[in-house]
Amino acid sequence: GGARALCACSRMRATRRGRLVVAVRCSKVAILGASGGIGQPLALLLKMNKNVTDLALYDIANTAGVAADLSHCNTGVKVTGYTGEEEIGGALAGAQLVVIPAGVPRKPGMTRDDLFSINAGIVKSLVEACSKHCPGAVLNIISNPVNSTVAIAAEVLKKAGVYDPKKLLGVTALDVVRANTFVAEAKGLDVKDVDVPVIGGHAGITILPLLSQVSPSVSFTSSEIEGLTTRIQNAGTEVVEAKAGAGSATLSMAYAAARMAESTLLGLKGESNVMECAFVESKVAEGLSYFASKVVLGPNGVADIPPLPALSPYEQQCLDKLIPELAKSEAKGVAFASA
Ligand code: NAD
Ligand code: LMR
Repeated sequence: GGARALCACSRMRATRRGRLVVAVRCSKVAILGASGGIGQPLALLLKMNKNVTDLALYDIANTAGVAADLSHCNTGVKVTGYTGEEEIGGALAGAQLVVIPAGVPRKPGMTRDDLFSINAGIVKSLVEACSKHCPGAVLNIISNPVNSTVAIAAEVLKKAGVYDPKKLLGVTALDVVRANTFVAEAKGLDVKDVDVPVIGGHAGITILPLLSQVSPSVSFTSSEIEGLTTRIQNAGTEVVEAKAGAGSATLSMAYAAARMAESTLLGLKGESNVMECAFVESKVAEGLSYFASKVVLGPNGVADIPPLPALSPYEQQCLDKLIPELAKSEAKGVAFASA
């Protein structure tokens, strides 16, 4: 795999088994698309994160203002702003983690795939910059359609000779956040104890919550299962319609992205048992290169992808239906990046 981006304050340390490992003591995170609806609240949450030392904000517009504003918060995170292509190298140099929410959001009546025509090119050029300026960084891709943009990112990194599948993650954490909230509400549980794995992808029927695997264990009637599954699949559209033309989920997405960033950084720091659902290169589903499921995050990004648990017949049916759709989105991304 590609070399880990290291900063001056990283150091080698010996583990109890005598292996030398690199302890990353400073964590630079770059946000690409930092002035946007997701970017701004995400930047605020990361400015409050004790595991972040440097926060680089990049966008094509308004970054100076966002960075000046945020830099006045009295937390230890150093905030810097970068605007336009000629400054992107500064934002990315030395970053351990790059979070990418750049691109246009949906309006009512659109599918996520309708964003492809604009966002595919944005993701391609931003990941090209990452391949040049921070080839060892972990990338968290938020820009939609995630089911295609992750494939685009992978192709760009392959072309540059720096692709490490462990370091490319499509962010599906919002689906888990929503599933946890809706299940807790439906069952009168304390939401902080609820964990619902969500697999597949991040659009419509490709979002598959595993309600047979909820922790703590709960039982549902089949109409509850169908109702909750549909609500979780349509939750993005629920927000798009409520915002009525003013965009899609930004605050809940920033919350979910901050959780994903935190877990990624904890993994990089060597913490054990860090798990999140994410859309990654995977052999879990036959015929697909990328698939969302629970992954273990470690010192080099994705450390392990456990096999899927035993699915209920309903979940298996849903999985069989979503695979061809995911395959189409993947192929569309690959074709775009190869053209
Ligand atoms: P937004 O329009 O509010 O913000 C997008 C930002 O990206 C803007 O500040 C814009 O200037 C910037 N941008 C555009 N082109 C850029 C480029 N080439 N380089 C750097 N920055 C660039 O949109 P938003 O609400 O923040 O949503 C952003 C994206 O995230 C959309 O594609 C949306 O569909 C997606 N999204 C994904 C999830 C998910 O779960 N993965 C959830 C919500 C939204
Ligand atoms: C979401 O799930 O909220 C995002 O993918 C944005 C959208 O377009 O729904």
